[in-house]
Amino acid sequence: MFIFYILFIYFGIIVILNFKYPLLKWDWSKADLQNISLPKNFMWGSATAAHQVEGNCKNNNWSNWEKSKDNKGNPRIKNYQKSGDACNHWDLYNEDFNRLNELGLDSYRFSLEWSKIEPQEGVFDQKIIKHYSEVINSLINKNIIPVITLHHFTHPIWFDEIGAFEKKENIFYFKRFCEKMFNEYSNEVKMWCTINEPGVFAVMGYFAGIFPPGKNNPDLTAQVIINLLDAHVDVYHSLKNHRNGSNCKIGIVKNINQFDPWRRWNLLDWLVCSINNHIFNSIFIDFFKKGKFNIYIPGFIIRKHSNLNAADSLDFFGLNYYSHSYMKFKPSFKQFFENKFPINEIKTDMEYTIYAEGFYRAIKTVSILNKPIFITENGIADKKDDRRTIYIERYLFALQKAIKDGFDIRGYFYWSLMDNFEWAEGYDMCFGLYEVNFKTQKRILRKGAERYKEIIINSKYIKH
Ligand code: BGC
Repeated sequence: MFIFYILFIYFGIIVILNFKYPLLKWDWSKADLQNISLPKNFMWGSATAAHQVEGNCKNNNWSNWEKSKDNKGNPRIKNYQKSGDACNHWDLYNEDFNRLNELGLDSYRFSLEWSKIEPQEGVFDQKIIKHYSEVINSLINKNIIPVITLHHFTHPIWFDEIGAFEKKENIFYFKRFCEKMFNEYSNEVKMWCTINEPGVFAVMGYFAGIFPPGKNNPDLTAQVIINLLDAHVDVYHSLKNHRNGSNCKIGIVKNINQFDPWRRWNLLDWLVCSINNHIFNSIFIDFFKKGKFNIYIPGFIIRKHSNLNAADSLDFFGLNYYSHSYMKFKPSFKQFFENKFPINEIKTDMEYTIYAEGFYRAIKTVSILNKPIFITENGIADKKDDRRTIYIERYLFALQKAIKDGFDIRGYFYWSLMDNFEWAEGYDMCFGLYEVNFKTQKRILRKGAERYKEIIINSKYIKH
């Protein structure tokens, strides 16, 4: 009888969970992917980040990391690759921006390399500041709206050496850098992203140890998340107080990744999803919605945090979306779950599948903040270029549906304009609309990317 009672409760919970969180799946054979068109005033763009494209980044946390080895003597980056010259976008930006025109884009999201601008604490390099002015002017001359990211995973070595975002007092340095940049460029640049993917930065660097500084410390991970979020709030309010503050849009960039149970009847798989969803998504949403959150990290650390200024610190939400993950519980202390891939979903070259329904779900998730949404990143690693078209069609179809359903989405930035240094994966992952030959620095528009161009033309010039 007792067993029966337990089973009844167990399956009762499973039924409720399945009912409350169904796996959204659309019948793609019925979707009209040939006539996708978004509103005329929609902002079309593509995105890059300094360390991944510029080249010659020798003075930041990643340049050190690329040279180092793990405890077993293995390289940090696949096959000992280094960012090196990357796409030499530093010198080739002007012709790269012609490519934005070629695609019919109206905006470009890029990041400023703090380690080049402030190579030593308090020393700002005027030549580099001038370089970025020229970059911005080049965009404006080509009718492209510049969108700046202030922190995209990299910062100067000196900042790392004093503990970077592990320490609350170091927010001062980041804020000073942001204020200086805003003062330099906010006459021309009207859209600013403070920090790119704080959750990924913290978890990959301080919990998984796959990004620098390669630590495995749950408590520190929590602290870094807290400090990054507080840094965003401080920077936001400070920039808003600048004379250009009120006519600039300032937001944060955050990825949303769904965690779906591999076995929808297994409570442990649901539990693993809930822990991941909490750490990667919920705490951030809570922070911007309520100004507070509690962090639970496996290892049983619980942290509470509140910041009264947080709820009013976004002009827009920058949503990055790539995919969802299927989680299967694993009875191991080291890693208590594994990622699974269903055969009925198309895999990208990264360890995830094409799942455009999840894009719609992510938009719904962040819409709770009632802020305009910009899709600051979305794209596919597809070296063979045999899935890019389907990816673009499905994700833009999902976007079209979300807009029709009333979600306030203002723009979309494809990741990325060209192949680039994909962090721990090196150059093996090809996200580019343009294929890059890293020996000759030649760029070629990928066949699969032409669909992006067509959909933009369709949206801008064809009657709705
Ligand atoms: C990051 C990019 C990265 C992309 C593709 C995002 O998490 O912001 O820098 O290249 O994902 O993995």
